Amino acid sequence: MGTVGHVAGAVAGFHRPVALGLGVVRFMRGLNRCHLTGYFRALARWCAARRRFPMLGMFEGELFMRKLVYYVASTLDGFVAGPDGADPTGPGGFWPMSEDYVRHLAARYPETLPALARQALGVTAEGTHFDTVLEGRRSYEIGLRAGITDAYPHLRHLVFSRTLSRSPDPAVEIVSGDPVVRVRELKRQDGKDIWVVGGGELAGALYPEIDRLVLKLAPVTVGVGIPLFGRGAAFDSRVWELADHTVLDSGTLFLTYTRTPGEREPV
Ligand SMILES: NC(=O)c1ccc[n+]([C@@H]2O[C@H](COP(=O)([O-])OP(=O)(O)OC[C@H]3O[C@@H](n4cnc5c(N)ncnc54)[C@H](OP(=O)(O)O)[C@@H]3O)[C@@H](O)[C@H]2O)c1
Repeated sequence: MGTVGHVAGAVAGFHRPVALGLGVVRFMRGLNRCHLTGYFRALARWCAARRRFPMLGMFEGELFMRKLVYYVASTLDGFVAGPDGADPTGPGGFWPMSEDYVRHLAARYPETLPALARQALGVTAEGTHFDTVLEGRRSYEIGLRAGITDAYPHLRHLVFSRTLSRSPDPAVEIVSGDPVVRVRELKRQDGKDIWVVGGGELAGALYPEIDRLVLKLAPVTVGVGIPLFGRGAAFDSRVWELADHTVLDSGTLFLTYTRTPGEREPV
């Protein structure tokens, strides 16, 4: 074999493991936490059915379950809306819609943008956080009044109401039962995390089940309005652990807090 043959042989020999390595990296990047926990939980169920490797049962435990996340826009004084119950981010709303805020939402939380906003911004990304959104009837009706029966067609959409008898949209599920019971069922299913969009009253009903808070804290105060956990929330102190934060130039903070298993009991 001549020099050219040796070089070609060396390149081919080098190329194969590199291609394999790149393939593995590409596969791993395509996986997210949801895929991984889904695989482990499926494996645990498979083993449990065959009474093998009981240790794998830990993948069926709370640690590996999808989380309930209250991802919400709040004023500095803790309100999600003004006293009139209108959409603060809608036309004429008091929410400061800065360019960097919208850019951050589109880049980091694209699935939380309503379909109309995704279309206007040219956002098509699936997003990595949520595949399910939970909404209180009063929040849902804001879109309904504008003729939008499903603002999040890219997500599984559940609306909680004891007064709506039927869903205005076949893709939207109306839940009249206890939100806590329904959320516990959802947590046991495979999937990405579950987003409570609001409003305050529904978040208040789900307070004991919320695993993570993502507050989009805007540099605005309103004095009075609908509080983070609704007007009827009872006193129930809870300690949260700061897990992540982003400060935008416009003054909005994205604060992620988790409820740790070792959370301190209220004193
Ligand atoms: N800042 C944000 O990111 C954000 C996000 C979403 C919404 N919002 C704002 O939130 C405001 C609405 O909040 P809100 O507190 O007035 O109402 P809400 O939580 O959106 O809806 C309350 C309704 O949800 C249903 N519901 C609540 N708890 C329930 C339970 N335990 N079981 C069954 N159904 C239950 C009831 O519907 P029925 O009466 O039909 O039984 C109740 O009237 C709006 O102004 C909206 O703009 C803000």
